[in-house]
Amino acid sequence: MIKEMDRSPIGVFDSGLGGLTVVRELKKLLPCEDIVYFGDTGRVPYGTRSRDTILRYAQQDMRFLLSKNVKMIIAACGTVSSILGDGVDVSVPFTGVVKPAAAAAVKATKNGKIGITGTQATISSKSYVKEIGALAPDAQLFEKACSLFVPVVENGFVGIDDPLPEIVVRRYLEPMMENGIDTLILGCTHFPILAPIISKVLGESVTLIDAGAETARYAASLLGENDMLCKDGKSGKYSYYVSDRTDDFSVVAGTFLGEDISGSVDRVDIHSL
Ligand code: DGL
Repeated sequence: MIKEMDRSPIGVFDSGLGGLTVVRELKKLLPCEDIVYFGDTGRVPYGTRSRDTILRYAQQDMRFLLSKNVKMIIAACGTVSSILGDGVDVSVPFTGVVKPAAAAAVKATKNGKIGITGTQATISSKSYVKEIGALAPDAQLFEKACSLFVPVVENGFVGIDDPLPEIVVRRYLEPMMENGIDTLILGCTHFPILAPIISKVLGESVTLIDAGAETARYAASLLGENDMLCKDGKSGKYSYYVSDRTDDFSVVAGTFLGEDISGSVDRVDIHSL
């Protein structure tokens, strides 16, 4: 028998496009699941804002997703995950991105030298340092806030042959290579969208940890453990919401997801929630 809750969508939110790294992986892993995505494009970036502002935005984003009757909420945002930590009071299962990405990095590293990237708010919170410290106290960690990566992605400068993102990536990440890292956490969900360029700059020897994809895998196992997976075999439906113009989002998101989503993007007035 199909429980009513199982057919409810999974709710995913981010400040903008970054959370699509979770959606892309969820679609591969759980093709039957419906997904409601909210990108707060009217207020991106989050990562340069104060803790109070980020908390207020996150509460509004989650309220919106709950109004869509979601069965799980994924804060597909390193910044929100870092500020909320484990203390999230919602009526459905919840996950952020920090724990899954930290666990994957600890598993991946061979020499124990891990680079951590994120927004300013994420790096200042030390969220990844605390998580990794609990799992691998001897790991050597090297952090870098890469604030310019978010506007680069939001503006669609993501082509592998585009010199602009490559210059930005080099400026932030080349110094980290002097530390001999073999693993780099892309700890803001916008950053995996630049992964091909980051790999080009850092070389194949550095394993990139995609916080979005790791979180999708973790969320899938959480739903399975709680017997909440959709089992009716139908293809999932996807709805995208943003807090400002829908057109730019549709173009960049469509390119990233590899499909035309322009008919499924709506605007929501997040301020009123
Ligand atoms: N994608 C986000 C994160 O993972 C937010 C970036 C931002 O809005 O600054 O941190």
